[in-house]
Amino acid sequence: MASSSSFNLRNSVMLFLSILASSLMAASAANFYQDFDLTWGDGRANILNNGDLLTLSLDKASGSGFQSKSEYLFGNIDMQLKLVPGNSAGTVTAYYLSSQGPTHDEIDFEFLGNLSGDPYILHTNVFGQGKGNREQQFYLWFDPTADFHTYSLLWNPQRIIFSVDGTPIREFKNSESIGVPFPKNQPMRIYSSLWNADDWATRGGLVKTDWTHAPFTASYRNFNANACVWSSGASSCTSQSPSSTSDNNAWLSQEMDSTSQERMKWVQKNYMIYNYCTDTKRFPQGLPPECANANQS
Ligand SMILES: *[C@@H]1O[C@H](CO)[C@@H](O)[C@H](O)[C@H]1NC(C)=O
Repeated sequence: MASSSSFNLRNSVMLFLSILASSLMAASAANFYQDFDLTWGDGRANILNNGDLLTLSLDKASGSGFQSKSEYLFGNIDMQLKLVPGNSAGTVTAYYLSSQGPTHDEIDFEFLGNLSGDPYILHTNVFGQGKGNREQQFYLWFDPTADFHTYSLLWNPQRIIFSVDGTPIREFKNSESIGVPFPKNQPMRIYSSLWNADDWATRGGLVKTDWTHAPFTASYRNFNANACVWSSGASSCTSQSPSSTSDNNAWLSQEMDSTSQERMKWVQKNYMIYNYCTDTKRFPQGLPPECANANQS
């Protein structure tokens, strides 16, 4: 009797704890108040709908931006974006991971606006130890201003995979074995900003931002990070018990299967408009070493 009631008590406590844990996890799935700080733009960045939606805006006086409260060292990070519609020429929406300092690491998505009806450019780059110059640019196979689409970064110690709506568009492999720095020692925050770059973004500055269409607005929702949070010099991933690492952290060693490889090839064949790894004019002394690594281009 005594043992059975303590068994029940223990069960109820366990049940309560697991409900508490799952409700905490649900709450942490997407709440911009909880996960991000609005960092600049003096009222032009806003969190709406109880934390479900974030908007950035840009007018002639200023753009705006936000950053994650947490720093991450590896992650599988999704965000849905809906870009500035209509005549967005000259505007750039940057969404990226970055560490601090002169030898920083950085992983970039940048969306270069365009005249109504003309395609956005999705610009990507990877910095290791302060050095970038690894641009790849794409058109998208849909209108990124008509609806929300998911932009994802899978960042683990072996590779970085950029995906759009679950389709990989770029893989940057760890090529440290041939002397190429790979982002894996510096925790990074998530940043985003909407700003005016009409001096370079649209056909090298030929098309200027039309301020009669201001304010320009980009929207964000459904942030989801399956990531190792870095805090006080320690990673949340190493402190996890072996039982909880199995499924949740599969992304930490994930690679592309053959289906993903095929889909990435399809995107690169049909939508890639610039690849530093084929720009021999730019690198007369020879292409960067990582370009020789299979599937880099
Ligand atoms: C804008 O549209 C033009 C015409 O289709 C295209 O050449 C250009 O790459 C597009 N993107 C930008 C950012 O200029």
